[in-house]
Amino acid sequence: MRFSLVLTAMVTVSRSAEALYPINELAVTPAMGWNNWNAFGCSVNEDLLLSTAEKVAAFGLRDVGYQYIVLDDCWSAGRDKDGNLLHDSEKFPHGMKYVADRLHSLGFRFGMYSDAGSSTCGQYVGSLGYEKQDAKTFASWDVDYLKYDNCFNEGLSGTAKITSERYRTMGHALNATGRQILYSMCNWGEDYPWKWAQTVANSWRMSGDIYDSFDRPDPRCPCTGDEGYDCSFPGFHCSAMNILNKAAAFVHTSTPGAWNDLDMLEVGNGGMDDEEYKTHFSMWAAVKSPLLMGNDIAALDTKTLSILTNPAVLAVSQDPVGSPAIRRWRYYVNDTDAYGQGEIQMWSGPLFGGDQLVALLNAGNSTRTMNASLADIFYDYGPEGTAPEVNESWDIHDLWANRMDDATAQNVIDDTATNLTAFYYNATETSYKDGLAANNTLLLGKLTGTVAAGGAIETVLPRHGIALLRLRKR
Ligand SMILES: *[C@@H]1O[C@H](CO)[C@@H](O)[C@H](O)[C@H]1NC(C)=O
Ligand SMILES: *[C@@H]1O[C@H](CO)[C@@H](O)[C@H](O)[C@H]1NC(C)=O
Ligand SMILES: *[C@@H]1O[C@H](CO)[C@@H](O)[C@H](O)[C@H]1NC(C)=O
Ligand SMILES: *[C@@H]1O[C@H](CO)[C@@H](O)[C@H](O)[C@H]1NC(C)=O
Ligand SMILES: *[C@@H]1O[C@H](CO)[C@@H](O)[C@H](O)[C@H]1NC(C)=O
Ligand SMILES: *[C@@H]1O[C@H](CO)[C@@H](O)[C@H](O)[C@H]1NC(C)=O
Ligand SMILES: *[C@@H]1O[C@H](CO)[C@@H](O)[C@H](O)[C@H]1NC(C)=O
Ligand SMILES: *[C@@H]1O[C@H](CO)[C@@H](O)[C@H](O)[C@H]1NC(C)=O
Repeated sequence: MRFSLVLTAMVTVSRSAEALYPINELAVTPAMGWNNWNAFGCSVNEDLLLSTAEKVAAFGLRDVGYQYIVLDDCWSAGRDKDGNLLHDSEKFPHGMKYVADRLHSLGFRFGMYSDAGSSTCGQYVGSLGYEKQDAKTFASWDVDYLKYDNCFNEGLSGTAKITSERYRTMGHALNATGRQILYSMCNWGEDYPWKWAQTVANSWRMSGDIYDSFDRPDPRCPCTGDEGYDCSFPGFHCSAMNILNKAAAFVHTSTPGAWNDLDMLEVGNGGMDDEEYKTHFSMWAAVKSPLLMGNDIAALDTKTLSILTNPAVLAVSQDPVGSPAIRRWRYYVNDTDAYGQGEIQMWSGPLFGGDQLVALLNAGNSTRTMNASLADIFYDYGPEGTAPEVNESWDIHDLWANRMDDATAQNVIDDTATNLTAFYYNATETSYKDGLAANNTLLLGKLTGTVAAGGAIETVLPRHGIALLRLRKR
């Protein structure tokens, strides 16, 4: 009964701004922040977290919305005689409450990590059987977010009931602390969390771990989107396209407060080119995945900064309607890359104010002209061109056209920038919702054309490139 209520609400939310708060008051829009794992793995300590946070603030990333600083695995040192979690006092000489206090005073929220098993993936002590005690410990440290992994789960998986109960135990324990703690489930899509985790967590990983590759197949990530979600081994080393193609089947199950998590961003880590990172970032925003930066912020370059701060793309991620874009079509193409991958896709979905998002994705290996008809873009509102929206004409706003130039980005990195109002949206000052309601031009991209009633959008796209467009009724 509970499930059917949730599903009904999810259908409703696709065209309304009504938020569901399934477990707490958090993640009304997808979480944004930084997590150390993709760039640093187990090499964590107090200085890394605090110095990164200072740079996130200094580069303006905090105020565009990246609020959570999340510590991943390898921070602990077992339990004391009463079973309380202990931090590693070499890595964290002042303890965790100190880290939380420092982050809060810098205007951030603090994310912690544990595991729904006997050990974490790095073989530190896990929280299985200690959920209440560990939740209390996290709350006493003023933690604001928990990433909860799935290693060494003692075989407690295989059915939705077993897995959901294991994760719900921690969810209830967090709730019982009385502290609002964003609950980020990391069970790699095992036992289909998109069918049940809306009542358990604020987000759930839907695949094996991401790897910094656009589309390279890897035997350790054996499932592809071609098999839909029927995947018994989620694996790891999954490419961006692999994850996106899996998510396509069920990304509509996200709703405000409860999101499919396509894993942390690889933008800036060096394994993809600029077009590929733009595509990765755009699609994670379009489908409303949490956006956790995964790069070394101290080594940030101009291209990375201008991707991560793009206000018009972030406004898609943080859109108050909270409705993920849906893939409308996918075709295989013959200009494959070295990995034998070649395909093109079109995604669309509703945005605030009756606008519509369109993403045209060229995952072929050469530049091509692509187009999207209004009939396909508005397919959900009436099949075969019968939607009333198809009979309207629309302005086309290109969400990458006003991207920050390299010289300005270099000034930001060198701390010599004087006036950033042309490129930065300050979400600390004004929420994306209020900015959109006021038609803040930073959030709307650049008006580049129109599409007439019954027509199609045509665009030329580079290899592995994307067009991310906002349609607004004329
Ligand atoms: C606890 O759960 C209730 C019901 O889902 C929710 O309204 C409340 O915000 C939660 N409280 C915390 C602290 O998470
Ligand atoms: C791709 O190649 C196959 C086999 O050579 C051919 O049948 C097909 O028409 C080609 N498709 C496109 C879109 O060119
Ligand atoms: C794909 O494109 C790249 C860059 O344009 C090129 O170097 C490579 O040879 C192409 N691969 C194939 C299999 O055509
Ligand atoms: C779509 O693109 C193709 C080229 O790939 C072009 O021949 C065709 O005219 C375009 N259709 C529309 C409706 O724009
Ligand atoms: C489209 O708009 C025209 C002009 O307003 C109207 O005559 C026509 O019935 C509309 N068609 C549909 C399918 O809504
Ligand atoms: C900053 O730049 C914006 C737009 O480029 C301009 O409107 C504004 O006046 C500038 N502010 C200052 C203090 O120079
Ligand atoms: C954003 O606005 C807040 C609140 O007014 C202010 O403290 C902060 O310095 C601003 N951030 C930037 C990057 O200008
Ligand atoms: C924002 O733009 C839309 C579409 O042009 C318009 O209907 C609305 O009144 C505008 N809102 C404000 C506050 O200017």
